[in-house]
Amino acid sequence: MSAETIILGIETSCDETSAAVIADGSRIMSSVISSQVPVHQRFGGVVPEIASRKHVELINSVIRQSLDEAGVTFKDLTAVAVTYGPGLVGALLVGVSAAKALAYTLDLPLIGLNHVECHIYANFLTRPPELPVVCLVVSGGHTDLIFIQAHGSYELIGRTRDDAAGEAFDKVARVMGLGYPGGPLIDRLAAGGNPAAIDFPRAYLENNSFDFSFSGLKSSVLNYLNKAKMRGEEIEQTDLAASFQGAVVDVLSDKTVAAAVKYGVSTVLLAGGVAANTGLRRELTRRAQSFGISVRYPEPVFCTDNAAMVACAGYYRYLRREFAPLTLNAVPGLKLGKDAY
Ligand code: KG4
Ligand code: ZN
Repeated sequence: MSAETIILGIETSCDETSAAVIADGSRIMSSVISSQVPVHQRFGGVVPEIASRKHVELINSVIRQSLDEAGVTFKDLTAVAVTYGPGLVGALLVGVSAAKALAYTLDLPLIGLNHVECHIYANFLTRPPELPVVCLVVSGGHTDLIFIQAHGSYELIGRTRDDAAGEAFDKVARVMGLGYPGGPLIDRLAAGGNPAAIDFPRAYLENNSFDFSFSGLKSSVLNYLNKAKMRGEEIEQTDLAASFQGAVVDVLSDKTVAAAVKYGVSTVLLAGGVAANTGLRRELTRRAQSFGISVRYPEPVFCTDNAAMVACAGYYRYLRREFAPLTLNAVPGLKLGKDAY
């Protein structure tokens, strides 16, 4: 038997079918990500029914490929880890069913994970940071500011009251006629624009709240576009992208640094799809530096949905022997730190 802890991770919460094999939480033996983006692109967003069907079609071959690329067989595995929420229920069910079938037939421990927890642990894949930390999780479905005192202990400091940051990127990209997903497209355009060109609002909210709100900003962009259209004015796409991104990045960076100072941590983690944003990485790092705080973020491929982060988060639960029963179900509204099994 291998002395290493070899975990198979499975992720199907949204539109990526992914499986990965990770040894001891940090040696990436394989990471297979089959993106459904091209399938959903023509609808301008993820269509849940289609996502579920695609996961069913892909899951077995993606798992097979992850084992082959890692050079292991089912017999070498120590445990199976899977995302069971939050996410699209039909999509989650595919991964959960596959993981349960494997755990049962191979007699392996089953580890059920929260998707937000997995995004956080993408930061532990290569060089695990020391705790405590403050983590900003920014994705298509989440904008959460979390204080992490110890492994498995999460205190929600702030969250979005309306749209998630990634959702705002995607919606603005759609009204700009850029396509889906919008985050990377806006990021690229913004690099060539002037962030001070248009003065979009920044929602800091009352009483130094650590909550976020992006719906006002989204409406502002829409109004700006409508007015320009009515006047027959040409829009400078790069300036619009840079000004919108600048407004998002300002609020995210300011609140994250303020939270890190308040909680007395010396490290901030970025996680989730929007953590791939070059403007956010740069600005947050710059602002944190002046307070002696360092900023860490995963490689772009591990910012968006992937199973390597699931296997990594699974490893830390494996060390605590936190296993899920074979009755594990998909929980679309699962809350961080509150297991539902
Ligand atoms: O984490 P993720 O793959 O899925 C969710 O859990 O939601 O995040 C996807 C989100 C999308 O909204 C996408 O537009 C955004 O992450 N995103 C970005 C960038 N890359 C992906 N947003 C801004 N800049 C990027 N470079
Ligand atoms: Zn995600």
